[in-house]
Amino acid sequence: MLKVLVLGSAAGGGSPQWNCNSEVSKIVRNGEPGTSIRTQSSIAVTADDENWFLFNASPDLGSQIINNKQMHPKKDLRHSPISGVVLTNGDVDHVAGLLSLRERQNLSVYAHERVHSVLRDNSIFNVLNPDYVDRRNMEMNKKFELKDKDNNSSGILVEAFEVPGKIALWLEDESKGDNFGTQEGDTIGLKISSLEDSKSFFYIPACAAMTEELKTRLTRASLVLFDGTLWENDEMANRKVGEKTGERMGHMNNSGKYGSMEEFMLIPAVERKIYIHINTTNPILLPDSSERRQVEGMGWEVSYDGMEIEL
Ligand code: MLT
Ligand code: MN
Repeated sequence: MLKVLVLGSAAGGGSPQWNCNSEVSKIVRNGEPGTSIRTQSSIAVTADDENWFLFNASPDLGSQIINNKQMHPKKDLRHSPISGVVLTNGDVDHVAGLLSLRERQNLSVYAHERVHSVLRDNSIFNVLNPDYVDRRNMEMNKKFELKDKDNNSSGILVEAFEVPGKIALWLEDESKGDNFGTQEGDTIGLKISSLEDSKSFFYIPACAAMTEELKTRLTRASLVLFDGTLWENDEMANRKVGEKTGERMGHMNNSGKYGSMEEFMLIPAVERKIYIHINTTNPILLPDSSERRQVEGMGWEVSYDGMEIEL
């Protein structure tokens, strides 16, 4: 059986965000009933209830480990149930947590060669000592089993595939035109399945657009954890906290034409749909908002830190 633990359900910056005083950040900071603090997006998955793989390593990883007993050391004086990390892009909210995993612990780190190359080019990631941390390339569209540093079986199969997206924010190069230098492999989605019983789910925390190929992949999925960043394209500007649109950031909106709610209506038989990587400006984070009612009315759940799912 696969177990999924949501370590962080918010987009970059978390909710509330440190320098944000807009509606949701303020309400969450005030601790109003039904709201909760959300850290930056990451999930942990196990097939044996003992060894866990992280899917993305958020800058909040330290507190995520403290807040979730499944992530605590269990055996020796030096131990962690975290066997490895799988990365879906090179954004700060998905890679900065690697820097917190530096204390001589065996790990395997899986990513597209493109993401490995940006980590290699940034020498701060050399704190991941190669004697302990094995960086492994993920080939696209090819199912493989996650293994720990010593190549022990995890019982977790992964298939990575490219999705429409964007180069990491910190690597954007305006001189390279409209796509800011985006290359193949900058944003990927994952199908994660159990070796034992083949049950599977999708983890797609960033996706700029729905494609026919992705619709086909997601047909009859039992569970999809999907990019829930923004309710609408100009949400940041509407709330006067930024200018960037969802489109500019490489994220589909929840609402509207070409939004994820509409697009998923066209995908047959998806059993369970959960938004993750939700920006602190998104009103679906407020339990009594009309936007929350709308997403729930369309069969979506809104993930929260500490959410547990069994497949
Ligand atoms: C994003 O998802 O758009 C990025 O995480 C933005 C960021 O790095 O702040
Ligand atoms: Mn992000």
